[in-house]
Amino acid sequence: MRLNRDQVLSLMATAMLIFLSSGCENVMQNMYDQPKYKPLSKSNLFSDDQSARPLVEETVMFSAGSFAGSSSGREGKAAFYLPKGKIPSDKIPFPITAKLLKRGQERFNIYCAPCHGQTGYGDGMIVHRGFPSPPSYHSSRLRDAPDSHFYNVITQGFGRMFSYATRVEPQDRWAIVAYIRALQLSQNTTLQDIPEETVRRQLGKKNDHQTE
Ligand code: HEC
Repeated sequence: MRLNRDQVLSLMATAMLIFLSSGCENVMQNMYDQPKYKPLSKSNLFSDDQSARPLVEETVMFSAGSFAGSSSGREGKAAFYLPKGKIPSDKIPFPITAKLLKRGQERFNIYCAPCHGQTGYGDGMIVHRGFPSPPSYHSSRLRDAPDSHFYNVITQGFGRMFSYATRVEPQDRWAIVAYIRALQLSQNTTLQDIPEETVRRQLGKKNDHQTE
């Protein structure tokens, strides 16, 4: 059977369409089927028969939590670095409870107090040993700064202070901010700020006692 020119052209066009619609995926299958280990699979390559290798000593985790399992996390993109100024909220985005403050206090004393001091005056032990001293949290500038400023500093670092994003989870960052707010209040409060009449009376009594 002989085909005329039009028939040949239409056959070629159909063949081309089939090729294109099957897509590169089938042609480049080896991109999908490349040699690799699935998580925790066996390997003869290492003496312990495991493909999962122990962490190299002194490596620092780059992404953590749920982010580590996402494609960006696996690619090693920075975990918690939100674009500057792009933070979830200007204020602590959940109710401040005693439990949150306790958690904040614990995290603060672990991660921040070594430089900032337990009361936030910027006189921690590392500063006594020569590290540049951070500003006091009790300046009017930092008292007036929004909660988000503290969250941002923890996330992105600030000047000589490096980022704590890999060590302090977002929830804990807010807990620390809440605790810093409590520290600020503790150094800058008047009797009028104390709501309960009874507490005022108790304080009054204590003061009387102390002056005796
Ligand atoms: C290793 C010491 C060190 C640790 C630990 C540290 N900081 Fe800092 N921080 C500094 C220094 C130094 C500065 C001043 C940086 C500068 O101005 O270059 C600073 C500045 C700050 C500021 C002030 C930013 C401003 O507007 O001036 C805040 C807020 C802050 N740190 C919060 C924290 C919190 C919260 C933690 C704990 C998660 C923490 N820091 C842990 C050293 C430290």
